[in-house]
Amino acid sequence: MEYLQIEGGRPLKGQVRIQGSKNAALPILAAAVLNPGKTILHRCPRIRDVEAMLDILKNLGCKVAWERDTVCIDARGLASYTISREHAKQMRSSITLLGSLLGRTGQAYIPYPGGCVIGERPIDLHIAGLKKMGVEFPESPEGVEARCSRLKGDRLVLGFPSVGATENLLQAAVLAEGTTWIFGAAREPEILELCRFLNSMGAKIAGAGTSRIRITGVKKLHDTEYTIAADRIVAGTYLCAAVACGGEAALLGAPVSHMQGMFPVFWKMGARLHLEGEALVIQAPGRCFGVSGIETLPYPGFPTDLQSPLMAALCRTRGMSSIRENIFEARFKIVEELRSMGARIRVEKNRAFIQGVENLQGGNLYARELRGGAALCVAAACAQGQSRIYDCRYILRGYENVTGDLKNLGIMVQ
Ligand code: UD1
Repeated sequence: MEYLQIEGGRPLKGQVRIQGSKNAALPILAAAVLNPGKTILHRCPRIRDVEAMLDILKNLGCKVAWERDTVCIDARGLASYTISREHAKQMRSSITLLGSLLGRTGQAYIPYPGGCVIGERPIDLHIAGLKKMGVEFPESPEGVEARCSRLKGDRLVLGFPSVGATENLLQAAVLAEGTTWIFGAAREPEILELCRFLNSMGAKIAGAGTSRIRITGVKKLHDTEYTIAADRIVAGTYLCAAVACGGEAALLGAPVSHMQGMFPVFWKMGARLHLEGEALVIQAPGRCFGVSGIETLPYPGFPTDLQSPLMAALCRTRGMSSIRENIFEARFKIVEELRSMGARIRVEKNRAFIQGVENLQGGNLYARELRGGAALCVAAACAQGQSRIYDCRYILRGYENVTGDLKNLGIMVQ
């Protein structure tokens, strides 16, 4: 697909089923290597990042088989702990293999990761925690080399509730000797999902979903079958499309309990949300209100991954909006594209001030990263006239069937 062509300016009308969660699936796939056996995952999203993670697993010696949205990973044949440069470049989440490879083999080599261009993305918290558990990191200029003779449980304190660091430490702790405590752990639903998955394999984890997690090391794990939760960010993206365009949309299977931190923003914009059976239904007026004082925060706050789609929706509201980005420093990359459509946005360091305009104008747009690309779909859907979004490959990293979903929501797309 060279570009996505959207004819914008119509209210939404339709329904869409929400895919499995990318950010839950990736660490769960990484964790599958902990057990020298079989893992069956249902509702696994067939997105580029998942395909990239599966390629890595195959390269390490695992067998992978798909049947519709179910993937089976057989990790008995794991024969390597080295991730190739080419694979690491494709996806930053390769770093979540650090904890699981250490747990399984006592060694890991991961070239410095690639991925989204949304900021520095250091891994100091991952490394400090693992060092406390007995892991050594010999000097290695082009990647992270890690080895340990034995992983030992300890009391680990995270200075910031990093999602990735929490995931890596959890995975390292599952088969470690003794008990590990993670204080200041991330509380994102994806952490809860990873812990449930690990427990389904025989791990002993308590406190998941809180900032204090206790992992009692076990000697071995067993085969498991697990269903991945629906994707709260994909569902949130379509809520953004609804407040941008107006109209009504039903999100089937949306993970409502994971989305509570987003709802107040949509309410303030003038949207109504209710449940109808398994569907989360949003009804939004033709032109919503601007909202000031929005901040991205660790869960349960407003998610940084939805900041760009929300910004796109705020561009054509009545009045002024402001967003403070507290998680990733380089997440205002779509401002230029939105301005080219007629948006009035002023950026001051990590704050963006958006003066709503009556209409955006369609145009040629360029996706530069995953969520920014999704935001351009939102902008194009509410803009007058035709837009073409180039470099859609970024969007396909996280959205399984973006064209089909937008069509189902009543957006004219090809
Ligand atoms: C994960 C999600 C990403 C989401 C982010 C925050 C996946 C695959 N990705 O990314 O979509 O936007 O959580 O919800 O699940 N930090 C450090 N040192 C570290 C680790 C992190 O300073 O060792 C900082 C980062 O620079 C960033 C902040 O902590 O400013 C949040 O990062 P983190 O929570 O680790 O995000 P990711 O796990 O990379």
